[in-house]
Amino acid sequence: MPNNQATACAYSNIAFIKYWGNRDHALRLPANPSLSMNLGGLFTRTTVRFSADLTADRALVDDQAMQGNSLARISAHLDYARRLAGSALSAEVISHNNFPAGAGIASSASAFAALSLAAAAALDLKLTEAELSAYARRGSGSAARSVPNGFVVWHMGTDHASSYAESIAPAEHWQLTDLVAIISTEHKATGSTEGHQLADSSPLQAARVATAPARFEDCVQAVLARDFERLARVVEHDSDMMHAVMQTSTPPLLYWLPPTVAIMRRVRQLRAEGVGVCYTIDAGANVHCICLPNALERVRAELHAISGVLEVRAAQVGGAAWLEG
Ligand code: DP6
Repeated sequence: MPNNQATACAYSNIAFIKYWGNRDHALRLPANPSLSMNLGGLFTRTTVRFSADLTADRALVDDQAMQGNSLARISAHLDYARRLAGSALSAEVISHNNFPAGAGIASSASAFAALSLAAAAALDLKLTEAELSAYARRGSGSAARSVPNGFVVWHMGTDHASSYAESIAPAEHWQLTDLVAIISTEHKATGSTEGHQLADSSPLQAARVATAPARFEDCVQAVLARDFERLARVVEHDSDMMHAVMQTSTPPLLYWLPPTVAIMRRVRQLRAEGVGVCYTIDAGANVHCICLPNALERVRAELHAISGVLEVRAAQVGGAAWLEG
């Protein structure tokens, strides 16, 4: 007998091959396959309680009551689980991120992965990992990748059921660390949901999408073989491709700040000197520096020496989303 309440946790993730643009915005069917690693230690913990005592959904995120569009997005996400379970109960959602909001680490991925797992468990839905990942995708595309363990691929698919993520290697497969150089803690002017809708306005998006499957395959092979040189080349190139699309959209999206570029240049120099590091940048100014274990301390010191770097946060490879209790 389900007690209509469950608590789940999920790690954030950083994409090595980026998701940018949708073929179907409502379902979040992406324009290209993507690949990520989960960010160990950086997670969202969410409790969902369905109850006949509630007259409407309510949600607290980091002790703040959600309203308007934020609440509507959560409610719409719960509707899918309610439909599957044949339930009309309203829910209370209580969610905490263990990393500060505005620290430049995407919270929608971990948030919607944890919400999906908690909601499904609270309603006693028996979902496979692929079904859970596809469900998380509807809330935030990148959340599909926060469900499975470690190094994860998201198959673009052709419909709801076929667009889900799965692990290609567990967290222990490769001891990489993401050093996140935090440059700005400001809320970004254009969030990713809006950004995905602008992608097709760039004449470069068609070229990015056409060549993404080859980069994706290259990246899968690099991860499986633990070939850092190969990984570094394709990860940086893929990030540059996405930012080229962003910068040539209408209106243009320029997320970089001067320290962003300074780090990109420094990371390239360091790699030329034999240091195992590469960069990747999401829809913001902060730079994720993916490091081999023996490069970690050198890269950390180099990042701290760059003017405009406020903080450097480290995350190792994280596991799958999990239920508590
Ligand atoms: C640049 O998953 O945040 O981080 O589906 O609208 O929530 P929504 O978008 P989101 O987009 C992520 C964009 C990215 C690249 C990536 O993580 O693949």
